Amino acid sequence: MIYLDNAATSWPKPEGVAMAVYDCILNKGANPGRSGHKMALEAGRIVLECRETLAEFFGIDDPMRIIFALNTTDALNMAIKGLLRPGQHAVTSSMEHNSVARPLKKLESIGVETTYVSADGIGLILPDDIEKAIKPNTAVIILTLASNVTGTIEPYREIGRIARRHGIPFLLDAAQGAGHIPINVNEDDIDIMAFPGHKGLLGPQGTGGLYIREGIDLDTIKEGGTGSHSDLVTQPDIMPDRYESGTLNTPGIAGLKAGIDYINSIGIEAIRKHEIEICGRIIDGLKEIDGVKVYGPQNAEMHAGVVAFNVGNMDSTEVSYILDSEFEIEVRAGLHCSGLAHMTIGTFGQGVVRVSPGPFTTEQEIGKFLEAVRQIARL
Ligand code: ALA
Repeated sequence: MIYLDNAATSWPKPEGVAMAVYDCILNKGANPGRSGHKMALEAGRIVLECRETLAEFFGIDDPMRIIFALNTTDALNMAIKGLLRPGQHAVTSSMEHNSVARPLKKLESIGVETTYVSADGIGLILPDDIEKAIKPNTAVIILTLASNVTGTIEPYREIGRIARRHGIPFLLDAAQGAGHIPINVNEDDIDIMAFPGHKGLLGPQGTGGLYIREGIDLDTIKEGGTGSHSDLVTQPDIMPDRYESGTLNTPGIAGLKAGIDYINSIGIEAIRKHEIEICGRIIDGLKEIDGVKVYGPQNAEMHAGVVAFNVGNMDSTEVSYILDSEFEIEVRAGLHCSGLAHMTIGTFGQGVVRVSPGPFTTEQEIGKFLEAVRQIARL
């Protein structure tokens, strides 16, 4: 089987990830931050070490400003609903996942305004257009680091600078990119960042997080058990407890730390170099096949490990079905939870076939994938 669906979730994981999950469940399976016994303290250490590892990885000064979440959608909901109030305005883009668009849509019912800045035909957003959309009541700029449909890497650094200049919080959706595109929240002017643990960071599903810069106060969208201040009926103000209600996914967090340790052992630059080489091979190979159209930028440097294509007028889900059933090649087709992005690039009806290689994808696998598409294009 050839797995090319890393934008949905990365696979395979480094061996150390499974080992860390197993060890946590087998030997350290108590509840972190609750009881004071030895195993609970050990579980608490796992959580702290992962927070510290994440902080170092993203250039975050205070690890306590990182909130563990179930996934990026969970983190984005905390950020968007915790930040925006009736009468305020959000600037975002037409390339966002519906984990941004749907919470914003819901907030429209309480009087939040949204401007969707349109990307161009390759899914690229112009920083000037974001700046022009800012209004006196703009309370946040929300941007995806890279489109989960076309892989287009957005000019997030420039847009972060614009947000900083205007004194508006900048929320980055790093679902596609965290773990393979270097991110430094200080250098990149990121105020809030939602990220998955189970994609580029190579951790298990059920992990993710939210970084909140000091000075930014989000309201809570859930309250309850934090293991701290049980004398209070109100949610404690301390970080990260304020936003971490309920027992954490400690085995997942143990695995997440192992995933980041693996990335650090290889080096994120080497992972990114491999991604560019493999994406380049996919783009160039697909472009040589008659009847195949590649979407997004045509150079791999502008892609975050995602390439989208179609074969003539064939339904994208049919192509992915044939790839799976006849060639054992796993990709994702359709609209990818990002209808707006498909409207932007003109594929709302057909969808696209999305190929997303990972750090373990080989040149040989891409050769087999291209041969399979060649055969499908002849049908
Ligand atoms: N958001 C993930 C994707 O793009 C699941 O496939």
